[in-house]
Amino acid sequence: MLFVVLVAACAAAIGYKVADKAPSADLAADDQMLAIIESAGCMDCHSASPNLPFYASLPVAGDLVKADAEKGYRAYNIEPTVKALKEGGLVNEVSVAMIERVLLKGTMSPAKYYLVHWGAAINDTERDMAMEWAKAYRAEHYPNPLAAEEWANETIRPIPDSLAVDSRKVELGKLLFHDGRLSLDNTISCASCHNLETGGVDNKQYSEGVGGQFGGVNAPTVFNAYFNFVQFWDGRAATLADQAAGPPLNPVEMASESFDQICAKLQADENMVKMFAEIYPDGITEANITNAIQEFEMTLLTPNSPFDRYLKGDNDALSAEEIEGYDLFKENGCATCHAGETLGGKTYEYMGRFDNYFEKRGLEMTEEDNGRFKQTKDEYDRHCFKVPGLRNLALTAPYFHDGTMKTIEEAVQAMAHYECGVDLTEQDNQKISAFMRSLTGEYKAK
Ligand code: HEC
Ligand code: HEC
Ligand code: HEC
Repeated sequence: MLFVVLVAACAAAIGYKVADKAPSADLAADDQMLAIIESAGCMDCHSASPNLPFYASLPVAGDLVKADAEKGYRAYNIEPTVKALKEGGLVNEVSVAMIERVLLKGTMSPAKYYLVHWGAAINDTERDMAMEWAKAYRAEHYPNPLAAEEWANETIRPIPDSLAVDSRKVELGKLLFHDGRLSLDNTISCASCHNLETGGVDNKQYSEGVGGQFGGVNAPTVFNAYFNFVQFWDGRAATLADQAAGPPLNPVEMASESFDQICAKLQADENMVKMFAEIYPDGITEANITNAIQEFEMTLLTPNSPFDRYLKGDNDALSAEEIEGYDLFKENGCATCHAGETLGGKTYEYMGRFDNYFEKRGLEMTEEDNGRFKQTKDEYDRHCFKVPGLRNLALTAPYFHDGTMKTIEEAVQAMAHYECGVDLTEQDNQKISAFMRSLTGEYKAK
């Protein structure tokens, strides 16, 4: 096989090629990282227009390389990271975690690639530099002041007790969140589908709106939604206020005809007119309604879960099984996509990285299965979803955008299989699931 011949021919050269290459210690940390990415050929497999090596045009080795490049780009796009490093932008925390993880495990670049591609292997000096970069980058750009020192560099951060809010807006927003008048027939409020007594969800596969109509996607929780980088599974709302403008006019949710219609109903309520006037000079408007709802949602935080107390330094807050579960959560790569305050909500990720989820599911494809693609019409985004947060998971069944997973165990098993390429033993699943159950926090100290 030509590939083997190539490997044999090149292997001899590798020893000294690899030995002494490393970016200068005088370079800034970001530039060192950039140099490592470039010399290790990461861009060859993780960008839209890979600069493939010369042998990619050869029959056998070429096909292998192309298949790897396709699979690699599907799993991870490094372009935004390279751009941010070059231009001084912010590297996403999920990217920092993913790069750190593959380097720690020594899986990148793949051996069969660097055996052929002279000098692309990462040596120990480079690995140490890159790991140092990831740690320092996270400490600087994603600080974790609530965590005990031991956990200050974890990819996951505790939920703060509160955020700075305007209490008058919160009071108004709370009323609006529970107000049926936002819906056409006055029967459905935000709380109908986001019940604050049941984890901020309705515990149904699909939500029921005005007139008993059903939507086509599972309702995520409103608790801690503030920490999401965008809202909705497909990210179509940039902020909570943008988001709150959606459901009232959605024909299968609240089905109002217009915000004029909603404002007219509220305008007939003396108390509402007074409350709005006290905060907003222009009174009852769409922008003011959604602004108040957003402010209220900023108080929907659930701090002090057992896991958060553990991160804050209380070693007894988790059982031995839950701690082992957290270790497995990190070891299997869950804590890369599920990072940040809510263990998610920081990136879009492809559902089915290691196996075809939608084929195996055995249900007909729906419009919602297209995920982020619905917004961008970019083929790369088909089946990409905003990663859901995992806070209060024990309260928010069923799971996944399609609401097909009924238990935490099922969801964990599927995640490991489709997103990590690992089939968990029953024991490991139990431990991770126990850890998942330690993520239930307190709402208003309850
Ligand atoms: C020859 C092609 C190739 C090269 C070169 C390569 N990768 Fe990969 N990479 C892959 C493939 C294939 C996958 C998906 C399968 C896997 O994870 O092993 C992947 C997966 C990844 C992932 C996702 C890991 C996860 O969490 O599942 C990251 C991050 C990554 N690579 C980073 C890098 C970095 C950084 C470099 C450079 C040091 C690099 N890769 C070089 C092919 C490549
Ligand atoms: C009929 C049920 C229903 C009603 C009423 C409803 N929602 Fe939702 N909500 C959903 C569903 C379903 C989704 C997911 C839709 C999607 O991603 O396309 C969602 C998504 C959200 C999200 C995004 C969370 C995330 O993680 O992306 C927020 C925030 C939210 N709703 C708040 C509200 C507010 C505020 C109201 C009232 C103005 C409201 N919802 C009314 C069902 C409902
Ligand atoms: C490559 C990124 C990625 C990795 C790695 C990953 N997940 Fe996920 N996770 C997602 C995405 C995307 C979804 C939403 C999938 C969907 O709804 O179709 C999700 C959903 C979930 C859910 C369901 C949440 C809900 O409310 O619906 C759980 C539980 C979960 N993941 C746990 C895990 C565990 C445990 C691991 C490790 C074994 C893991 N994930 C690894 C991206 C990832």
